[in-house]
Parts: sequence; C-alpha cells; structure tokens
Amino acid sequence: MIQLYHVYKRYPNGIEALQDVNLRIAEGEFVFLTGPSGSGKTTLVKILLAYERASSGQVLVNGRNLAVLRASSIPYLRRNIGVVWQDFKLLDTRSVFDNVAISLEILGLRPKEIARRVNQTLETVGLEKYAASRPLQLSGGEQQRVAIARALVNEPSILLADEPTGNLDPDLSVEIMNLLLDLQQKGTTVVVATHDRFLLERYSRRTLLLNRGYLVEDSSGDSALPATTLLDEDDEERARR
Ligand SMILES: Nc1ncnc2c1ncn2[C@@H]1O[C@H](COP(=O)(O)OP(=O)(O)O)[C@@H](O)[C@H]1O
Ligand SMILES: [Mg+2]
Repeated sequence: MIQLYHVYKRYPNGIEALQDVNLRIAEGEFVFLTGPSGSGKTTLVKILLAYERASSGQVLVNGRNLAVLRASSIPYLRRNIGVVWQDFKLLDTRSVFDNVAISLEILGLRPKEIARRVNQTLETVGLEKYAASRPLQLSGGEQQRVAIARALVNEPSILLADEPTGNLDPDLSVEIMNLLLDLQQKGTTVVVATHDRFLLERYSRRTLLLNRGYLVEDSSGDSALPATTLLDEDDEERARR
C-alpha cells in the first residue's frame, strides 16, 4: 500500500515540485498518475523509491515510513518495488537474459535459481525466445518488455512505470499497457505515470492528476476523461526536445 500525507517536495533550487499531496493507493490497484510536463510525476515516483526524500509530510510504502528510512534499508524497499523508466536503461553489451538477471546476481542467488526466475519472467513478458539477444537487436516495444522483465524479476508487490510508452508508437503502447494490466490482474500494484492522452482515454482507470505539484483530481475509472483536460501535450513535447 502507498500513502502520502501532506507531502511537499522542494528542490534545492527552490522549485516546489510537490505541494500538500495526499493520496492512498491500495494493494493491487492500477492507477494512472498524470499531469503536464513539470507537474511532479517523476518526482513522486522518485520519492516512492527513496531516490528523493519529501521535504515534509509522510510517505508510507508497504508500511515503511520513508521519512525515517535508514540508508541501509533502502535496498530492501527497492527490492519490493519494480520500476520501469521511459528510456529503457538496458545494458547494450549484455544479453537480454543478463539484463534481467542483474538484480538477482546482486542478491547472490544461485545460478540455477537465477536461470529459473529469469526464464519464467521472460516468459511472462513474451520474450523467452530472445534471452540470448542483445537489447539493440530488439524493437522498441521488445526493449521496453525487457525493462519490465527486469523490474519484475524480484517479484515486487509494486510496479512503478514512468512514461513507459513515451518512446513507443500506439500499437506498441497498447501491448505494453496490456502487459501492465495483466500484472495487476495477478495482484501487483501498478502505478503508471504518463501524459499520454491516448492511454488515459483508451483505458479508463483511476487517474491522479497533478498540476504544478498539486494533486488536483483523483477520478475513478468511469470519469477519467475530464482528468485529461489540463494536459498540455505540446508542452511535454517541447520539454523532451
Ligand atoms: N533534481 C531536480 N532539481 C531541481 N528541480 C527539479 C529536479 N527534478 C525535477 N525538478 C523540477 O521539479 C518540477 C517537477 O518535475 P518532474 O517531477 O520531473 O515533473 P514531470 O515528471 O511531471 O514532468 C519541474 O519544475 C522540474 O523542473
Ligand atoms: Mg517525468
């Protein structure tokens, strides 16, 4: 479960990236986090992973209070949260198998157990045939599925995806979204940060809308459409260039 109480994030340069954010995401929920470029989506994702710390307020993830989390506990937190970024961050010199295996190697699991888990996870994302390939030999959608496999191999209870379809065309976006929805069906809590109207409109799901750091709307699936009205796609495009 994820809970935020009166969370503020002010960066050292004075930018208020999050302001008085209150929210609760239950175990097993699927939630879109949306809002224009610079509204604080990535900051929120980073706070949940303890890459950034809230300036004030409380953040609870699976019962852990991140405000008082010791540095030595951060690896345990991250083991339980899978994360997928927009740019897949794959290692091009390693095989697909090795990219997925890294976190298990760090954990010191036996090679046999690593192989079992990696192969099973590659099957989940439909890439079992590509275990020996290099990431660059794959399409964008396949590379993103490798990134999802890497996020899943630890069997996290929460999966965070920050603009997971940002570099993909609509067909591949649908493929990735269907995979993320499957994972939710199997019990994983899934939070997808996206400014992609196409996704928000096609998949009507609970949508948290950020604007200038404020959570301005929390709509359930059936009324998800109004949440897109504040989005400024051109803005986001400009920011990306
Ligand atoms: N490390 C940082 N240092 C200073 N300002 C930052 C940093 N990261 C993000 N920001 C600022 O915080 C605001 C929110 O950014 P971000 O969370 O990346 O928004 P989004 O993901 O919705 O585009 C923006 O104004 C951005 O410029
Ligand atoms: Mg972002």
